[in-house]
Amino acid sequence: MDFASMAQYAPLFVEGLKVTVQIAFVAVIIGAILGLFVALGRLSTNKVISFIATGYIQIIRGTPVLVQLYIIYYATYPLFGFNIPPYIAAVATFGLNSSAYVAEIIRAGIQAVDFGQMEAGRSLGLPHGMVMRYIIIPQAIKNILPALGNEFVVLLKETSVVSIIGTTDLVRQADIIKAATYSNFEPYIIIALIYIVLVLGLSTLINQLERRLKRSDYR
Ligand code: ARG
Repeated sequence: MDFASMAQYAPLFVEGLKVTVQIAFVAVIIGAILGLFVALGRLSTNKVISFIATGYIQIIRGTPVLVQLYIIYYATYPLFGFNIPPYIAAVATFGLNSSAYVAEIIRAGIQAVDFGQMEAGRSLGLPHGMVMRYIIIPQAIKNILPALGNEFVVLLKETSVVSIIGTTDLVRQADIIKAATYSNFEPYIIIALIYIVLVLGLSTLINQLERRLKRSDYR
């Protein structure tokens, strides 16, 4: 075991860390925006819209993200005659993938608000839209924000599969270092440590956020 010889590869680990965090971050932003629309579609009273949104969620959640990555990365050639860069394929795949999970987070967050809140608002004479905007959504945000944070944590780890199409994330960098040094152990231990520091750090932040958001519940 020789961790000392890994020190010279620090820039590669740092580069991998950047790419991993970037992909997860951009994906969760895309996922949140798209996911909001999918969730609204799913909750819509229009049968066609809700059917399409539900189908989208089922297809994305019913297939492995690795298969989705391959389809998006390789299908662009036969379809459009050119290959997209691995990084773009990675971000697109995880953005789309995340949107289905985020849609369910948003839907669950909205539905978790007690139905009595809607009834109370309506009985005060407020129209449905206003009750949603001023009473339901503000409470739903408290359920949604921490769950979005967790989604980011999940993505940090799940994006490790993008290394397979050559995206230079943490795992890819470890592969490269392994090939250069014939050490097939140390690089992976190092990236495992990087992942766990990231995940534990973020989880702590999310817990704090959750506690802050709960504070106003006890008045
Ligand atoms: N590994 C699982 C899959 O391949 C889970 C993906 C989780 N994705 C997410 N955005 N939470 O489908």
